[in-house]
Amino acid sequence: MCGIVGYTGGRNIKEILIEGLKRLEYRGYDSAGMAFVENQEIRLFKKKGKVIGLESKILKETIVSRAGIAHTRWATHGEPTDINSHPHTDESKTIAVVHNGIIENYRELKKYLIDKGHVFVSETDTEVLPHLFEEFYQGDLREAVWKGLKLVEGAYGICVIHKDHPELIVGARKGSPLILGIGEKENFLVSDASAIVSYTRNVVFLEDGDMAVITPDSFKTYEMDNQNEIDKKIEEISWDIENIEKSGFDHFMLKEIYEQPATIRDSFRGRIILNENKVKLGGIQLAAAEIRDLERINFIACGTSWHASIFGKYLIENLVKTISTSEYASEFRYREPVVLKNDLFFTVSQSGETADTLAAIKLIHEKGGKVFGITNVVGSSIARATDGGVYTHAGIEVGVASTKAFTAQLTVILLISVLFARTKNTIREEEAKAIIDALVLLPETIEKYLKNINQIKDIAEKYKDSKHALYLGRGLNFPIALEGALKLKEISYIHAEGYPAAEMKHGPIALIDDNMPCFVIATKDSIYEKVISNIKEIKARKGKVIAIASEGDREIKELVDDLIFVPVSHLVVQPILNTIPLQLIAYYIASAKGLDVDKPRNLAKSVTVE
Ligand code: AGP
Repeated sequence: MCGIVGYTGGRNIKEILIEGLKRLEYRGYDSAGMAFVENQEIRLFKKKGKVIGLESKILKETIVSRAGIAHTRWATHGEPTDINSHPHTDESKTIAVVHNGIIENYRELKKYLIDKGHVFVSETDTEVLPHLFEEFYQGDLREAVWKGLKLVEGAYGICVIHKDHPELIVGARKGSPLILGIGEKENFLVSDASAIVSYTRNVVFLEDGDMAVITPDSFKTYEMDNQNEIDKKIEEISWDIENIEKSGFDHFMLKEIYEQPATIRDSFRGRIILNENKVKLGGIQLAAAEIRDLERINFIACGTSWHASIFGKYLIENLVKTISTSEYASEFRYREPVVLKNDLFFTVSQSGETADTLAAIKLIHEKGGKVFGITNVVGSSIARATDGGVYTHAGIEVGVASTKAFTAQLTVILLISVLFARTKNTIREEEAKAIIDALVLLPETIEKYLKNINQIKDIAEKYKDSKHALYLGRGLNFPIALEGALKLKEISYIHAEGYPAAEMKHGPIALIDDNMPCFVIATKDSIYEKVISNIKEIKARKGKVIAIASEGDREIKELVDDLIFVPVSHLVVQPILNTIPLQLIAYYIASAKGLDVDKPRNLAKSVTVE
């Protein structure tokens, strides 16, 4: 997610835009840029890196302008470079655009525009917008933007300026936030209110399908569908700055847990061909024959990403009927691993900078292997070191404890498994359809689920003073149990261990007593009865059982001490859902203990050392 600031008015526009970008830098800081309308020209300044780099670049510049737009970037398409930075313009620099979101059909639009003679300079999806609007411009900028956006598929929050309109900005939103700020002889368009709360608290929260046109003395809002002018409610912001950056949540971690419906949707957006029940992943450059010839598919990662890689191993075996392995990068890199000719490796990494994972990639290449990256940060070291891969599109993850990046990793791994399984014909089309339908429904299911989590808060309060905890799961829920345990220990400092449920009898059961809470993932599947037996073994030793169970499961209630129901989904999608309550349990226990949830002791967001 990127930061956008648009300003029309008579104040020091350079200062307002720079200060606004600094407020939004937590949303992404790969690069920054700004554009102004001055003397019937677009003046453009862009710089890779943080806002401070742009600030020093324009320090000596005198800007006399009453309409300007600015952007701090979280890269989704195209590495962080000066040329890929926003704003983007058409070749004659008559129009400039800043964009937050993903344009799914940018390849088709780019081809259409190149065929009409437009010249592109960047690798971004965004650059199609100024060329598109220029194509339709006949004097009315709002109309040109409206006509251009009718061809666009995907998500956007945008601001647009034109060299012949010295005091005008056009904005539009669909799937990415855009807020209209109303001042005295000045108006704003921003991606979140923290950028303008120092200047005005009077805002209009634009909704999907809204357009806005602002000048220093006026603001109008329109419905995209029919171009009707509409009146929108003006609200007053009561939050303080920090609160706004967290969108009203107490911590970034909780905000990111609640972002998961949107980030899971972004991780499969534009990658599913619904009417063919197929998956398309541009970054997996393998011919069908190469996929069919694969002998092993191996996952390598660290921490939470390693849990996602175990999920991958089980899925590849289950759906693709291919040998699959999951390894800690830190172990793999110091062994003498065998790399077969028809091996394929995937590294999984949120940051794309984990030293052990990078070293594993180097070793694979030294042994002649091929490795794709499942990565969240575009242009990161791992993204550049691998032979291709798939971005998870979870947006910047500020909380050190990974949440939305993990569920986005699971989603991408599921997409890869369906792609390979359909290519190898190891699942029937109707099975692929069932999985895809469940995945498409998942964001809405999680959205509903997150609306009522009071029972989870109560359970967290009940167990917050525990000294130890066990997390148990079987099959695809085993990595979810590991992830639940890691979440708890890394932010609440309570010792927690994840195990395959059946493994408990081989030692850990000695730990069970009435002070040992056991979180057991017991959603309905083919081994549900086995998990019920494990629960009974715990209860026989007076352990406390908190079960994650399927909505509608009547049998389990009298067997356990506490019950957290989750909606029922497809067997291979269910583990993604089961993750949510475990994230919340960890969050509310750590929060109740008054700990620094976003920056836990001893940890870093990216372990770039060995
Ligand atoms: C997860 O909550 C932790 N922050 C940590 O285990 C993390 O997953 C691990 O360091 C791997 O990081 P990466 O995904 O950026 O490679």
